[in-house]
Amino acid sequence: MGDRFSTNAVRIIEEETPKLRAATTASKALFQRAEQHLPLGVASSFQAGDPYPIYLAKGMGGHVWDVDGTEYVDFHGGFGCNVVGHAHPKIVEAIDRAARTGTHFAVTTEVTVAFAEELCRRFKLDKVRFANSGTEATMDAIRIARAATGRDVVCKIEGSYHGHHDTVMFSVVPNADAMGGREAPASAPMSKGIPAEMAKWTVAVPFNDVEAAQRLFDERGSELACLIMEPIMMNIGVVLPQPGYLEAIRDLCTKHGVVFIFDEVKSGATVAEGGAIERFGVQPDLACFAKAIGGGTPTAAFGGKAEVMDIIEHGAAQQGTFNGNPLVAAAGLAALTEVLTPDAYVHLSELGTRLAEGCAKAIAEHGLPAHTVDLGAKGCISYRAEPLQNYRDFLETRTELYEASFPWVVNRGVFMTPGDEEQWTISVQHTDTDIDAYVEAFAAFCAAVAA
Ligand SMILES: Cc1ncc(COP(=O)(O)O)c(C=O)c1O
Repeated sequence: MGDRFSTNAVRIIEEETPKLRAATTASKALFQRAEQHLPLGVASSFQAGDPYPIYLAKGMGGHVWDVDGTEYVDFHGGFGCNVVGHAHPKIVEAIDRAARTGTHFAVTTEVTVAFAEELCRRFKLDKVRFANSGTEATMDAIRIARAATGRDVVCKIEGSYHGHHDTVMFSVVPNADAMGGREAPASAPMSKGIPAEMAKWTVAVPFNDVEAAQRLFDERGSELACLIMEPIMMNIGVVLPQPGYLEAIRDLCTKHGVVFIFDEVKSGATVAEGGAIERFGVQPDLACFAKAIGGGTPTAAFGGKAEVMDIIEHGAAQQGTFNGNPLVAAAGLAALTEVLTPDAYVHLSELGTRLAEGCAKAIAEHGLPAHTVDLGAKGCISYRAEPLQNYRDFLETRTELYEASFPWVVNRGVFMTPGDEEQWTISVQHTDTDIDAYVEAFAAFCAAVAA
């Protein structure tokens, strides 16, 4: 853009990056070892860093320590999983109990049944099934929707991420030149290795655009098995649904017999006890959960109306060796019933508002083209003056400001997600002091970038 913010951002990147490199020499050494046997030196490509990631050694409460021994306040939250914080005594106790009595049988145990009951209570579902990751949950929900409707085409939201199975890897982060028109976004794959013909099974519509969905449904409603969406888009910062949007899509799906699927992998158990379903009062036919429901262990679930879920009893395959095993079920049940209590959500909401308001004040004071979003445990700073409505707005955010903020805050003891598409996660173990550390580092950043 070439204004003073850009000039200062470039200078900050040049000054802060060498400091970060100097403070993370053990990470660099571990990267050099890791890349011998792990592509990009990481377990998952989302963990990669340029030129290397910061490797962590441990976490306690709301803090993490990297392999160089540096302590940070953790706002990364394991990409949104650690709303319980690290090593919470209730979770440690649940995992310890499971470790002593058997972590895996591939036979359903009582704790798994109790975990299912709690998920159904929270999210107003008739029935659930378990999986091991958000990817599996959305893959299975789409299978069930296709089986229940006898239709094949999947509708998703342009620019949304639902995991890494082929059907949903279209129109995730399309480049501006490959996006096609707003009326009918092109179905561009996010990865190599996806057969080009798969594009015909996935169509996209922009978020917060009822007319675009209406047009598609009028033309092709009878081909659509489902519409899968994050009720709050959380892979381009945070984009809220406009008032009435979810209700209108709910009505459209009902009218055309299309299964409406909420992907609550990020929002479930974070933005409210009952996730976006509670926050917006709109009930989908199916909903997918992962991340925070496991209390830091790898589990996932999807569920919804009995009339849709019952197709599992009539020929739709849903299975997995590790699904709902007693280790993850014990941790998940303890997280949902003993840690993430109604009081915990009050605490998360207070902390979230303290953080978002503190950052918003600094933004206003220094006139940054940015805004904050506050959803309790989840929130973000987006480098665009007006709130985002959809993916196309995200392409207008000031990437260079994010890129300067990242080394700046990390160098000041704030551990954040690498990537401006992410957002912060606050845990029940965070304190006001932790929040103020972020606000202080960010306010200093605002002053420097606006100087
Ligand atoms: C909204 C959403 N759905 C699905 C997934 C996939 O989950 P997982 O990484 O556990 O496969 C993610 C991951 O970030 C996500 O944000």
